[in-house]
Amino acid sequence: MSDPQATYLSDYRPPAYRVTHTELTFDLDPAATRVKARLHLERHPERTAGEPLMLDGEGLTLEAIALDGEPLEADEYSQDEASLTVHRVPERFHLDTEVTIAPEANTALEGLYLSSGMYCTQCEAEGFRRITFYPDRPDVMATFATTVIGGPGEPVLLSNGNPVERGELPNGRHFVTWEDPHPKPSYLFALVAGDLKKVEDAFTTASGREVTLQIWVEEENLDKTDHAMASLKRAMRWDEEAYGREYDLDLFMIVAVNDFNMGAMENKGLNIFNSAAVLTHPHTATDAAFQRVESIVAHEYFHNWSGNRVTCRDWFQLSLKEGFTVYRDQCFSADTNSPAVKRIEDVSFFRTAQFAEDAGPTAHPVRPDHYIEIGNFYTLTIYEKGAEVVRMLANLVGEEAFRRGSDRYFERFDGQAVTIEDFVDCMAEASGLDLSQFLRWYSQAGTPEIDAFGEYDYAKAEYRLILRQRTPATPDQPDKQPLHIPVRLGLVGTKSGRDLPLTLEGEALGSDAVIHLREAEQEFLFTDVSEAPVPSLLRGFSAPVKLRFPYGREDLAFLLANDGDGFNRWDAGQRLAMLALDDLIAAHRNGVEKVMDPRVIEAFRGLLEGEPEDRAVLAEMLTLPSEAYIAEQQPLVDVDAIHAAREFMRQGLAMALRDDFLRVYRENQSDAAYAPTPEQIARRSLKNVALAYLMAIEDEDGVALAREQFAADHNMTDVRHALTLLTHSSRDELSEPALKAFGEKWAHDPLVMDQWFAIQVTRPQADVLERVRFLMEHPAFSLKNPNKVRALIGTFAGQNRVNFHRLDGAGYRLLADTVIELNRLNPEIAARLVTPLTRWARFDESRQELMKAELERIRAEELSPNVYEVVEKALA
Ligand code: PHE
Ligand code: ZN
Repeated sequence: MSDPQATYLSDYRPPAYRVTHTELTFDLDPAATRVKARLHLERHPERTAGEPLMLDGEGLTLEAIALDGEPLEADEYSQDEASLTVHRVPERFHLDTEVTIAPEANTALEGLYLSSGMYCTQCEAEGFRRITFYPDRPDVMATFATTVIGGPGEPVLLSNGNPVERGELPNGRHFVTWEDPHPKPSYLFALVAGDLKKVEDAFTTASGREVTLQIWVEEENLDKTDHAMASLKRAMRWDEEAYGREYDLDLFMIVAVNDFNMGAMENKGLNIFNSAAVLTHPHTATDAAFQRVESIVAHEYFHNWSGNRVTCRDWFQLSLKEGFTVYRDQCFSADTNSPAVKRIEDVSFFRTAQFAEDAGPTAHPVRPDHYIEIGNFYTLTIYEKGAEVVRMLANLVGEEAFRRGSDRYFERFDGQAVTIEDFVDCMAEASGLDLSQFLRWYSQAGTPEIDAFGEYDYAKAEYRLILRQRTPATPDQPDKQPLHIPVRLGLVGTKSGRDLPLTLEGEALGSDAVIHLREAEQEFLFTDVSEAPVPSLLRGFSAPVKLRFPYGREDLAFLLANDGDGFNRWDAGQRLAMLALDDLIAAHRNGVEKVMDPRVIEAFRGLLEGEPEDRAVLAEMLTLPSEAYIAEQQPLVDVDAIHAAREFMRQGLAMALRDDFLRVYRENQSDAAYAPTPEQIARRSLKNVALAYLMAIEDEDGVALAREQFAADHNMTDVRHALTLLTHSSRDELSEPALKAFGEKWAHDPLVMDQWFAIQVTRPQADVLERVRFLMEHPAFSLKNPNKVRALIGTFAGQNRVNFHRLDGAGYRLLADTVIELNRLNPEIAARLVTPLTRWARFDESRQELMKAELERIRAEELSPNVYEVVEKALA
């Protein structure tokens, strides 16, 4: 086999033929589903007459083909492994094809497959070509009419749009015909068939349209849909209010499936969800899961406009729909919950995971200019950095212009497949701002670094701020241009502890302002600064950059106590902890005694003893930077030193502040009936953070509380947290009985078993790798189920840093073994799983050698394009 080839943005051309209407008939069968397609085609006005018709198609067995009703002779078309070409076609015509496919053999979970006995589809990005021959690209938009034929095992037959006809057929079979009046690209096609049960509700849109809402699940999950339904209705209302966007069909359906590569999919009128992203129950799902479900339900719903009505011209524009939609779901969650905590959570995840991606061999711009396998580009950069870029736009143009710009975008491009420039142009027009330099955010990869310096001139009452930006080289992009970076800031007076009024070049800006950094180096002179300030920079993480400022520890303790911006107050605490952690890491490496910085203890004491205004934010402030985040800050990652330093600090804090933690635990403990409200979630997080500190020193009161909390069995948030703490303790008599009880109780529930796997494989104990191998044989585990792979292998490799990076290389071997097996079964999941190995350059030489050896071992296999692309980049 020849090496897979790349596709380039610069090669874009409109399709030679477009499809105006698509008629499909599925006669379902696990081994041989027959798919008949009638495509109504016409030449694209921008393409010359007489070009051959090329259709995508993979793994299809062609049974029949006819043009305008005439069967084609063998020499009138040709076929290879990825396409079918009809040599001569008229200007307008229809093409009939019939193919067979085998859903039961589909382990890649792209196209039509079976999940727990249920038929379902996944077509984004290029799955439709595994269903029928088609111009499988997002700029081909057609209306669809779909007939699904099933047997007694499939009482429910669903597709996009509205059901228009149903009836009985011979041999106990039956059919339903669906029509979707909205033109859509093939990636939004969906079909579901099986023995499903529904929960139904209704929503009236702002203009009075009655919409039926349905959530389809397996019968045993009927009691786990309330939260998703409530979230859906909130999201529908929010999109009307915040963006003026209404739903546009009479029916909106969500289906839960157990085997799914991603979180969920926004198919028109028929969203398909990973069951983990939709099902919740207080006894089976944690607060985090409840919040995740709310945001994913909203995300997929928001795609109806940002993605479906207005879609992407080509897959290079993927962030056009994903970045914008993530931004929309983030704002929705911020509005429904605690905005400060939402931002803290999103940013701490971003600075850990996206920064690492940007610093590694697969770094790519928000709009890549080439790819081998588009499935590899559903990344943190496209999604989360894309959302940060939209957020910067919103901050630059202001709320009102942003809304005008988005209205303009949806109106102008409704029913079209467009580009990122089209979106940014609307924002530029609506605001009158020149966004040409800003566009570099879409083409330049890597995390910009800002070095900031400040100087206060007491005599002149001036504060001079100097900002220098540079973006480090990334693969294929050695030289970078300066970006247009919004820096939100305040100056906090050291005497008053208040945000001082800002005057820049004679202009009064209030006490919190956005300055525009455009040059490689730029100076900002603030006048009338009445007292010496500590600058509070990049408030709310106003740009996805790394910002350095030579803060002293007193400065940080001061900001932690006084900053007017909640996010930066949290960030000051993280910076303070980082400085102290750096010392501890150095001490560990040099083999000298570790000493706890009393300033960190005092800062934490201040937090614990102060009046908590926002318990959820407080819980975040009391949480130390994660090992992954600390690693991201180190030039060379020393996993053992990082782990040792962080544990030392956790224990130091726990010993010094034991009584405070105990009190906070007791004050926030409650027996009230579970509800995923912001107030309850805040109390639970705070209490559980306190408990984790007590368990860090295995304090006897703490141990007793953890056991009680586990035994009380009140809600999954508390049970899971207690079980995690018991499992991660050094005492087998705490962990083993609890794990056993939990595993037996929940053996029937796959989503809870995923949590059971994840809890065990994050244990710090040295024998955990052997446990991972053992659990891979557990009856509840299956390599064919992506949730299981993520829970067991993904969690181990991604979160158990000390043990994954074992010096004997056993962790790397385990991961490579799994990647090799999955490469055959599910290339998309295999390519994602390999990520930790691609980060080899960040580690010491012996680990580098071991990691590269495993990558080489993978490369020696016959690889899917997905794994090939990632491994090639990692070894380049
Ligand atoms: N488009 C989906 C989303 O972000 C994600 C997805 C991509 C799902 C590819 C499946 C396959 O909402
Ligand atoms: Zn999305």
